[in-house]
Amino acid sequence: MTTTDPRPTTISTAAPRLRERIPAVSHLRAFIRDPLALFDGMHASHGDVVEFFMAGDRWVLLSHPEDIERVHLETTRGYRKGYQEYKKIGYVFRHTLGNGLVTSEGSFWRTQRRLAQPAFHGRRIRGYADVMVSYTQQMIDKWQPGQDFDMRILMGGLTQRIAAMSFFGTDTEAESSRASKALDKIMLGFNAELASMVLERLPAFVRTPNRRRVDSAIADFDDVVAEFVRNRRAAPEGTHSDLLAMLVEARDDDGTQMTDQQLRDELVTMYVAAQETTTSTLAWIWYFLGRRPDLARRVYDEVDEVFGGQSPTPEKLPQLKLLRAVVDEVLRLYPPAWRVFRVPEEDVEFRGFRVKAGTMVAMSQWVTHRDPRWFDKPTEFDPDRWLDGRTAKLPKYAYWPFGGGPRVCIGTGFALMEIVLVAATIAQRLRYTLLDTEVTPYPMITLRPDPGVRVRAESIADAPTPAADPVD
Ligand code: HEM
Repeated sequence: MTTTDPRPTTISTAAPRLRERIPAVSHLRAFIRDPLALFDGMHASHGDVVEFFMAGDRWVLLSHPEDIERVHLETTRGYRKGYQEYKKIGYVFRHTLGNGLVTSEGSFWRTQRRLAQPAFHGRRIRGYADVMVSYTQQMIDKWQPGQDFDMRILMGGLTQRIAAMSFFGTDTEAESSRASKALDKIMLGFNAELASMVLERLPAFVRTPNRRRVDSAIADFDDVVAEFVRNRRAAPEGTHSDLLAMLVEARDDDGTQMTDQQLRDELVTMYVAAQETTTSTLAWIWYFLGRRPDLARRVYDEVDEVFGGQSPTPEKLPQLKLLRAVVDEVLRLYPPAWRVFRVPEEDVEFRGFRVKAGTMVAMSQWVTHRDPRWFDKPTEFDPDRWLDGRTAKLPKYAYWPFGGGPRVCIGTGFALMEIVLVAATIAQRLRYTLLDTEVTPYPMITLRPDPGVRVRAESIADAPTPAADPVD
């Protein structure tokens, strides 16, 4: 393993353009077939800066942590996130997310981020812990020993309910199941367009059957959200403590509040950003613990030791060091966000190579998290690497599942608390065997396990006693 930084000490201003071009069509075909293999292959054969053309666009793949850090830190000065470029592509993406935090830019994004940030402060997030644990308990209460189920599907339903309650303060069957069904359809539409970069590029006026389905699902979802917003605006301030209440009540310095359209875009964005990512992480956890009974035993022992016969609480999560290492290792090996994009507004140079303004700069967590310069035996699932000092001196951005810089994931704390709390709650009660052993990452919005994570419940323990209120 080498940890030498190949970055030259001086960067030539007359740098040559990047090395080699492979025909654009073959790239597109390879990207559609297996984008992970394409990125891996480019990095292995061409190094940390690789230029390529795909369907008429100029792309660059950056894979050195220093370059990735630089782009992330300069993101709000000199780069766009690239969704303006998506005006010609990404129909479902644009129509679903609108101008929410993920897609917006400039001063509009800055204001929205400032307004949304308080909803994600530590104390606020801990307020969602009861929902996370009690919904998980309710799900386990329905399980029977000997029953087979797909953990990916179950984790998807659970994270949807948690998100509906934490974000909209609702879990009434009718509303949340209408919202969930609509979102399922939107997600299917997302994936169908993503799977075909050709479909995705058809102009908006082309009404494919997929787009018609997506439009009707978006209309349905918008109806539910509009109802939530109407009810909340009518309620006296301070009566709710969910994300919607925070956003409805948030005021900028000059007293302006979010419009209904802004609220809608932010809520849909949060819901989509939160749900797929946490589902995928939880599903992979059950896959790996199922494959490694020795490790699963250690996790169960740790959870028992920390919580005894009581329900998990957020205050004790820092004591779950092994479980947290399992989560970190899943996020390393199968990062839900497996690539991000930026578009430089002016020409920039990386490692002596000029990258032209307007290029689509791709950076892939999948590639850097598997780089042998930073991780030994990078393709091995080995949570102990996070406990025995091997990862103590990682360069920043060698491990970056939540991005970084000003546009770092706003939901990092929420996601980590949810994943560890849900996993601990299940680990307390379920003993299972894994039925699917041939599971591979399917690179869509996230790296979801395909075909799923089917398990057989061997035993289900009784519900633990509720935890006593923590004494501050
Ligand atoms: C394991 C779970 C998650 C992972 C791995 C993840 C990953 C990421 C990454 C990498 C970014 C940066 C994208 C970029 O730079 O282009 C991001 C942004 C974002 N994430 Fe997450 N995320 C997760 C969970 C969540 C949750 C639970 C929420 C909401 C509660 C959320 C909301 C957002 C939002 C709103 C942004 C855009 C932030 C901005 O640009 O200001 N994410 N996420």
